[in-house]
Amino acid sequence: MRAPREPFRIKMVEPVRLTTRAEREEALARAGWNLFQVAARDVELDLLTDSGTGAMSQTQWAALMLGDESYAGSQSFERFRETVKDVLGFPFVVPAHQGRGAEGVFFGAVIDPGEIVPSNAHFDTTRAHIEIRGGVALDLPVPEALDPALDAPFKGNMDVERLVELLDGEDGDTVSIVMLTITNNAGGGQPVSLANIREVAAVTRERGKKLVLDIARFAENAWFVREREAGYGKTPLGEIVHEMMADADAVLMSAKKDAIANIGGFVAVGEDEEFFHRLQARGVVSEGFPTYGGLAGRDLEVIAVGLREVLEESYLRYRIQQVAYVGHLLVEAGASVVEPVGGHAVYVDAGATVPHIPAEQFPGWALACSLYLAGGVRGAEIGSVMAGRDPLTGENRHPPLELVRLAVPRRVYTSRQLEQAGDAMAATLADAESLGGFEMVEEAPVLRHFTAKLAPLDKRLTPA
Ligand SMILES: Cc1ncc(COP(=O)(O)O)c(C=O)c1O
Repeated sequence: MRAPREPFRIKMVEPVRLTTRAEREEALARAGWNLFQVAARDVELDLLTDSGTGAMSQTQWAALMLGDESYAGSQSFERFRETVKDVLGFPFVVPAHQGRGAEGVFFGAVIDPGEIVPSNAHFDTTRAHIEIRGGVALDLPVPEALDPALDAPFKGNMDVERLVELLDGEDGDTVSIVMLTITNNAGGGQPVSLANIREVAAVTRERGKKLVLDIARFAENAWFVREREAGYGKTPLGEIVHEMMADADAVLMSAKKDAIANIGGFVAVGEDEEFFHRLQARGVVSEGFPTYGGLAGRDLEVIAVGLREVLEESYLRYRIQQVAYVGHLLVEAGASVVEPVGGHAVYVDAGATVPHIPAEQFPGWALACSLYLAGGVRGAEIGSVMAGRDPLTGENRHPPLELVRLAVPRRVYTSRQLEQAGDAMAATLADAESLGGFEMVEEAPVLRHFTAKLAPLDKRLTPA
């Protein structure tokens, strides 16, 4: 497989500091063996997240200068609102400082304690917003999603049969919202088919519930629909996006992903104006006045441009191919990855790649630390550390898959730079058996992976 060609020229550069293994060992130990706590200057290839890390285009930088910073009635908000309506089809929008701000606005207005919120798979911040309000975040992925080696086109889909069982069962009355995360970040960046969206929407609507989409990566999902779903091969991407949104009552968006902005988010709502006013009232309390909602006018301009740019053919083709290229490099290096490669990231199956480390010793965490030590490559564990503890029993949760996510920032690294990920994996796996697990030393009660301190069980790695 050849590296895809970048469909842009580079106009501004940011130096990458080269580091030695000794420097990285010191940096990681100082960070409590938590890659989230390592300084960015100590990282050579930062694949921690694709969130807010994209490079803005010249058009976005130019739009930034048009920002109208009026407290009320800003023109930037008008342009932002028009774009959301045009690209996504929702007339009402509440801006928020980022995706979790949108989640705070939304769940703050709708959820009751004890309420179950089913999804194909909740992202961790969504789960946290539901759980801190006493709700239950329930994942109902299709069975294919749990088989990392299986190459199926829409592993992000929801299991509709299980949804029906839930809604028609004794807990059905506690559900008011059904969610789909598009693409499915927690489940390998896998797309959701239009057929699945429609089916879930029909089941949801028939029972008088609301369908809410988390559309952080809507453009990448649309690309996969066109590539993989029968009948859409020639449909313009913009039309596919409209079809994806058509049955949703509301959407939650982190603009840090498929709006290629460094910050921002929003909740957008269809026809239900009364519902919109409830959300807007909530937004005023936590985010800000309805025409800026936690953002500067210039941020709203950038998002408006990004929402259109992300659907450009040349960009999306390159984007999807570049992420697939990283997957190819990792497989060549000997890693098992979740197949097929997702839209924004490669998910390494740590459970299969370093099978000698049990889930209790956090294999994904160990593999991620090793990639950093071997090559200055920073990824993120999506496994037992991120899963946290069961709020009722206090026990560690062990998800079905122990993953390391290598997320590719948009338009930031050339394909040659990304080859460093393959090299770091090859170096790690050349002596895989010597890689040891980890123990938890310190942790926060919610979203512990950001700040937890861990220690390697192999004490040779701990500086004296
Ligand atoms: C699917 C999904 N939803 C919500 C969020 C939260 O967005 P933010 O980081 O902007 O708060 C993320 C962030 O990674 C995400 O991937």
